[in-house]
Amino acid sequence: MITIFEKIDSNNINMDLIEKAAGILRKGGLVAFPTETVYGLGADGLNASACKKIYEAKGRPSDNPLILHIGNISQLKDIVCDIPECAVKIIDRFWPGPVTLVFRKKSIVPDSVSGGLNTVAVRFPSNPVARAIINAAKTPVAAPSANTSGKPSPTRAKHVLHDMDGKIDMIIDGGSCEVGLESTIVDVTGKKPVILRPGGITKEMLEEVVGAIDIDPAVYKALSAGEKPKAPGMKYTHYSPDAEVFLVKGEKSNVAEKINQLVKQDMENGLKTGVMCLNSNAGLYKADMVVGVGKNMRQAGKALFDILRDFDENKVNKVYSEVFEETGEGMAVMNRLKKAAGYKLIEA
Ligand code: TXA
Ligand code: MG
Repeated sequence: MITIFEKIDSNNINMDLIEKAAGILRKGGLVAFPTETVYGLGADGLNASACKKIYEAKGRPSDNPLILHIGNISQLKDIVCDIPECAVKIIDRFWPGPVTLVFRKKSIVPDSVSGGLNTVAVRFPSNPVARAIINAAKTPVAAPSANTSGKPSPTRAKHVLHDMDGKIDMIIDGGSCEVGLESTIVDVTGKKPVILRPGGITKEMLEEVVGAIDIDPAVYKALSAGEKPKAPGMKYTHYSPDAEVFLVKGEKSNVAEKINQLVKQDMENGLKTGVMCLNSNAGLYKADMVVGVGKNMRQAGKALFDILRDFDENKVNKVYSEVFEETGEGMAVMNRLKKAAGYKLIEA
């Protein structure tokens, strides 16, 4: 398959391109497009065979359900049974935007979207290109992150091209993604809302609107055999670059000393090394690549996946990262970093 690659200006959207993308979706094809979180790999969300193609292109396990993306609020009632009160509050405050809600699904939603669950995850993205495509397609669009399953999510069109060239019909390049981490997922089907996956809309921001919120244990730790996360995708290895990633925890100066010592050993063994740290700590490290993730966790979220893919491009073998605070956006950053590291933690 030849993948069409087109650039689009989100401030001056070329509607011919949008129509072309929507036409491909309506015919059951696959189109990757930018959202404010990460690039999505879209298919007609009500067409079971189109959705199956997503699993093939990504190499994704079939029990891992997809998020349905809507282009306007009125589409929601077509796909979900009821809209609980806490969902109304979250929608009023944060939609369109980077938060996904899990509802009880209507039967129109195919099993290949819901992975056999009786619920469906729905997201109303704020990115104008994403919304234009969904509205032109006139159907909810199923869209996981547009990466090969297990790899870091794509925050730029070149990442999508790297993973999906020849496997999908079209890639729309709308520049780099604002948030850089996938949406916060909140299950609103129970008595109390539960965060299944942390993202740019933080627990603190949600609690301002709906009061106390629970967090699924899979957000913090590796699950033991038999334990099931509520978001099936959280059980898979994720975000892993080719390089082996380690988290190093402790007092700032101890961490620097420990990492520099590990790097020195690796370099003696002929390995290429990388370090991820807060910008202000970059001067403390010596390695082949020392990368500042940003000044704060919002910047780190935007940069994280890009940095992980950069290490691969530069053939880095081992990456050592500082451990960051798990509050605010830091909860999402640490969730992705722990998974990238396969939960390997070194105490300094
Ligand atoms: O920001 C995002 O959400 C991006 C962009 C493209 O919109 N999409 C995204 O999709 O991250 P994906 O497929 O990479 O991640 C979807 C996650 C998976 O962990 C999946 O298990 C979970 O959502 N999920 C989907 N439907 C669910 C449901 N009904 N109940 C619980 N978890 C669900
Ligand atoms: Mg994904």
